[in-house]
Amino acid sequence: MVEALEEPGSISPFFNPKSVAVIGASSKQKKIGYVIAKNFIESFTAKLFLINPNAQEILSHKCYPDISSVPENVDLAVIAVPAKSVKEVLEECGKKGVKAAVVISSGFRESGKEGAGMEEELVRISRKYHLRIMGPNCMGVFSSTSMVDTLFIPRYRLKRPPQGKIAFISQSGASGIAFLDWAAGERIGISKFASYGNAADIDEADLLEFLARDEETKVIAMYLEGVKEGRKFAKIAREVTKEKPVIVLKSGITESGAKAALSHTGSLSGTDEIFNAVVKQTGMIRVYDWEEMFDIARALAYQPAARGNRVAVITNGGGAGVMIADELEKHGMTIAKLSEKTVAELEMNFPPHVTLHNPMDLGGDADNERFREALGAVIDDDSVDSLILTCIPHTPTIDLESFVDMVVDTKGKNDKPLVVCLPGGRVSLEIRELFEENGIPTYPTPARAALSLSALVRYGGLKNSG
Ligand code: ACO
Repeated sequence: MVEALEEPGSISPFFNPKSVAVIGASSKQKKIGYVIAKNFIESFTAKLFLINPNAQEILSHKCYPDISSVPENVDLAVIAVPAKSVKEVLEECGKKGVKAAVVISSGFRESGKEGAGMEEELVRISRKYHLRIMGPNCMGVFSSTSMVDTLFIPRYRLKRPPQGKIAFISQSGASGIAFLDWAAGERIGISKFASYGNAADIDEADLLEFLARDEETKVIAMYLEGVKEGRKFAKIAREVTKEKPVIVLKSGITESGAKAALSHTGSLSGTDEIFNAVVKQTGMIRVYDWEEMFDIARALAYQPAARGNRVAVITNGGGAGVMIADELEKHGMTIAKLSEKTVAELEMNFPPHVTLHNPMDLGGDADNERFREALGAVIDDDSVDSLILTCIPHTPTIDLESFVDMVVDTKGKNDKPLVVCLPGGRVSLEIRELFEENGIPTYPTPARAALSLSALVRYGGLKNSG
């Protein structure tokens, strides 16, 4: 269920506001307040008010000297003025009845004791007026459906990703930008994004709870430097993973990393052992790198969770099959023993050099038809829970365009997850894109394909145990 906009203290106005004010909007192109104003003007279709005491007009848009002068209600304020002015601006927002504020400004808890005191003041104002705060020291929010976009990155530098099912929450703005840029480049759909910086008010647990109920989101990925309230986070994460998968990338795991996190977002990283215990208890999926996060998120967004850990591997290249078998075993999956019926059926039609046990090596001369028959028989085999199809697409017997269609036709059959591994350069890259556009997660290496499939198996295990 989507949270009601009217509910006091709701997070929804950050993502679905009926009206937005940009405080600190500027007509100077290099300023953060310029980029934010421009992005809203370009794509936000609800009401927009620009605030700057020294300007009549910015980007041909009327300007108000302060938020009190705006003649209508404002749901969301985006604040991009120097830290020393934020308190006063926020108080005015509270008086005006603004429901949510993204505070982009840095110079709070992450900068030391005085900044921490200033941040406390913001929290006090937030409580007094039931005005929720994202930040300070953050990038804020992006929604691919409402086109709320408080990221101060120009669109010629960061193309926004298309609509999709992955939500990404990040303490760090930069990690957020990297992830969104990657998603946009690979045309992977994003539902919502939030960079919440110092988490003075809204923290990772609040966002998790909100996204668990968000109908646009199927998978939640998060980047953390620390957890604000451990117990609250663990309790909420345990509930959320029953609804949808949560992938977590936690940094600050070494002494140097923890020190860096303290001065980046004022986060206390805690010990890695404790965090691992929380991951285990809650059923989140932990990753250690952006690439892993992105790979696993795609698999969970586009494929069903697996009912068990028995995997079939179909290939036209023996080496790739062997490497995948190794990787699968490393991740605790088993190579399925194909049923006698499957083997007998395929034996009748295939030449003798085809290896019919698992990994099934269809031979370097395999054509589309051989792949189609093998794939069909294996998907229908009850002793198989999921599949990895790996293909060396360079052989002359493969007709590339119809190969993609043939695989896509089997998508979702018997509710069994399928991921594709396409090693190689130019040719592989071209058809990898076609697979991705059709919701088949595709990876360039056996290790990445096996890891991503293992997430579907682990999440399936969690769902079945609940
Ligand atoms: N109300 C409305 N407008 C105001 C107010 C006010 N009270 N006070 C100032 N302004 C106007 C200014 O006049 C200016 O407009 P102008 O360009 O027309 O003169 C505009 O707001 C901006 O104010 P400046 O004083 O020029 O401030 P500047 O743009 O240089 O910096 C900023 C403001 C961006 C908020 C800066 O202080 C800051 O914090 N920068 C870092 C932001 C950041 O990195 N955030 C975190 C990223 S995510 C992460 O990695 C954790």
